[in-house]
Amino acid sequence: MNQNNGRVYNFSAGPSMLPLEVMENVAKELTNYKGCGQSVMEMSHRSKEFQAIIDEADKNLRTLMNIPENYKVLFLQGGGTLQFSMVPMNLLRKSGKADYLVTGAWAKKAAAEAKKFGDIKIVASSEEAIFSYIPQVKREDFREDADYVHITFNNTIYGTHFGYIPDTGDIPLVADMSSCILSEEIDVSKFGLIYAGAQKNIAPAGVTIVIIREDLIGFAAKEIPTYLDYKVHAENGSMYNTPPCFTIYVAGEVFSHILKNGGIPPLHQLDVEKADKLYKYIDESKLYSCPVQEDSRSLMNVVFVTGDADLDKKFVAEAKAKGLVNLGGHRSIGGMRASIYNAMPMEGVETLIAFMKAFEAENVK
Ligand SMILES: Cc1ncc(COP(=O)(O)O)c(C=O)c1O
Repeated sequence: MNQNNGRVYNFSAGPSMLPLEVMENVAKELTNYKGCGQSVMEMSHRSKEFQAIIDEADKNLRTLMNIPENYKVLFLQGGGTLQFSMVPMNLLRKSGKADYLVTGAWAKKAAAEAKKFGDIKIVASSEEAIFSYIPQVKREDFREDADYVHITFNNTIYGTHFGYIPDTGDIPLVADMSSCILSEEIDVSKFGLIYAGAQKNIAPAGVTIVIIREDLIGFAAKEIPTYLDYKVHAENGSMYNTPPCFTIYVAGEVFSHILKNGGIPPLHQLDVEKADKLYKYIDESKLYSCPVQEDSRSLMNVVFVTGDADLDKKFVAEAKAKGLVNLGGHRSIGGMRASIYNAMPMEGVETLIAFMKAFEAENVK
């Protein structure tokens, strides 16, 4: 165990650490929410108590992200994965064409799914370099009549992040922000749609946030399943069917926790300091290296290797024994990955670096 409270430092890519204060508060009101005599887990989603919870979550997310009035916030299910289908089902509304940037495994999956529904062009890819950088694209790279452009803003598996917002002109830009939402200030008005599974920076798994510009709602084909039409959720305040009530409640608690602590800027500052410290140590070390190009590095997912697959395995096992858990890279690429989302404290990163130094001293003779 690593922390005084008996908790480990969990570097999982998601689900991942949540703010302890939020979980303690949730635990306190777990069986009796604000004196109403029942748990949020038991509560009707049609109750006035739950309506207040979802309204407050919506309001606080809008404040945190400065979401303009002409955008709807939807609380959906199905993870980021279902958005790979919902986006093309709803947004291929004129030409049936969409342009994708393939910057990792999730982006590739999103594009493959979209191909089931329309004419999809991969306008840029970094696959030839094992997704170790973010390609630069210009307005002219996109088809004039594309219905939307899709990017994966942070690539969880390869540890890359867009350092810029592609200029798509009038073409709506769609971004998967599953692994970076709330880690930096974003100009929402530059996007037509933003989606994110909650299980990294927001809440336990179970809710997916969709932020969509209103003029993009209402174009799904009539024959698609009702649940997959954004319009249905927008018109029903995310309560067309039973929503993931408990997860929405925890998300709302996380939003108000962040607001109470000054919003996104101080959190971003800390995220930058945590990531800088870790990358700096990796770059200086003789044992570890980061395969990601410097200008494309993620603040949230720090990928590194020793260059020896057996040593990587030993590292992950020994770290685990010391209470530094889930440091293995994604099963598709191996190596190591430290996911240091918002709730990972600086001490977690410092403890990891201390362990890395000791491991290096022992294993580099
Ligand atoms: C960037 C990104 N997009 C999509 C997904 C898939 O999300 P889900 O498991 O919520 O469907 C993930 C999962 O980690 C992810 O990191």
